[in-house]
Amino acid sequence: MGKKYLYLETYGCQMNVYDSDKVRSVLDAELTNDPGKADIVIINTCAIREKADQKAFSSLGRFKHLKVRKPNMILGVGGCVAQLYGERLLENFPHLDLVFGTRTIPLLPELISRVEREKRRRVEISFDVEEVFEFEPYHEEGRVTAFVSVQQGCNKRCSYCIVPHVRGEETNRAVGDILNETNKLVKKGVREVTLIGQTVNSWKRGEYKFGDLLKIVGEIEELLRIRFTTSYPRDFTKKLIESIRDVPQVCHHLHLPVQSGSNRVLERMGRTYTREWYIDIIKRIRDAVPDMAVTTDIIVGFPGETESDFEDTMRLLEEVGFDGTFSFKFSPRPETPAAEYYDSVSDKTAGRRLTELQEFQREITVKKNQSRVGEIEEVLIEGESKNDPNWVTGRTSHNRIVNLPGGADLRGKLARVEITEGFQNSLRGRLIENQKEVSHVS
Ligand code: SAH
Ligand code: F3S
Repeated sequence: MGKKYLYLETYGCQMNVYDSDKVRSVLDAELTNDPGKADIVIINTCAIREKADQKAFSSLGRFKHLKVRKPNMILGVGGCVAQLYGERLLENFPHLDLVFGTRTIPLLPELISRVEREKRRRVEISFDVEEVFEFEPYHEEGRVTAFVSVQQGCNKRCSYCIVPHVRGEETNRAVGDILNETNKLVKKGVREVTLIGQTVNSWKRGEYKFGDLLKIVGEIEELLRIRFTTSYPRDFTKKLIESIRDVPQVCHHLHLPVQSGSNRVLERMGRTYTREWYIDIIKRIRDAVPDMAVTTDIIVGFPGETESDFEDTMRLLEEVGFDGTFSFKFSPRPETPAAEYYDSVSDKTAGRRLTELQEFQREITVKKNQSRVGEIEEVLIEGESKNDPNWVTGRTSHNRIVNLPGGADLRGKLARVEITEGFQNSLRGRLIENQKEVSHVS
């Protein structure tokens, strides 16, 4: 029999995007955009907020009719919702064949063939699968950027967060495996990797800490850029800051979730730092790398959050001057302590705070983007712009998207670009002709 067709739907964070690539790689099937043509349909789910759960359920519901029409098609669900509900999903979705967890992707080929052979539905959500990291990285032809997972799970216990429950304890990947995978990707044309983990800067293995890993990855030839996400504020050390400063490929952008600007709320969230501590770590980072762009995550409407707590968060946005903020309304999650907190904030109030915060951040971001006009930036060109084949798109070291007139030959190159316009979500620029000469002059 020839290759099977795989239809894959992915929700959630960068870890899920990475995991979906892993699914593609281990199944070695032909990807299709048409579920009607697929032999295998996999939904990779997210459980971080209640809305994400709902999306997973409605997606599962959508495939019911297809499964009735094509009983031999395998319908599987993976990711955080699968890990959270396990067996119960089979009960609620009678047309579902397979539930696999966040750490059982390497078992997929075997699981699928057992479902086919034994005509029995299966659940496999254990955390004890060994060698979870051993797989051939999936790479789409022409892609310049890639994720490389360096860590699974999370050992923090933020009181609102379901991640430790659905992704298990922190497990750090060996240096050799990380290098292998990165080298393979670079050979396929990747020029920028993002090292990913839930608290990526807490990575350690033997005598190596995360700062050492940055140095080691920085030695890979032809790798032009290194990013990493997501960092945990308390795991920033002096040595790590020095590595970020000293490894030239490390981009000057940091995603450092603060969650709230109120010490009272931070304490109830179990974040283990104060507002002052956070401000100080940002200062130390900026002392070492003055142009460091910083983005963050904020939760509004956490149980017990008063108007004055919220004001503290708004003032923090201004004080730090974040380049961007991902903000969310608190959503109570199963298996988390904060779901039991009695002093919830009404949805109306949380919604109003979210809008205010987003509006405020938008003003800050637009100002920051406009302040780049006239600057010369290095942009890694990722490919043609979606809207116009005569334009290309890429990112600055600070992770700002830049669109500029240019041809596909620029893909994978670091181009020197003069910024001509700044918008809310992107910049516009023009290529500086005669790149070499210009870099001599400056
Ligand atoms: N360390 C992780 C955090 C994962 S969750 C990472 O790699 O990004 C991403 C963000 O979702 C968190 O930083 C937090 O701001 C938000 N979040 C987590 N649990 C939430 C909840 N119960 N309600 C609302 N937002 C939540
Ligand atoms: Fe979640 Fe806190 Fe870990 S937000 S992923 S428990 S650092």
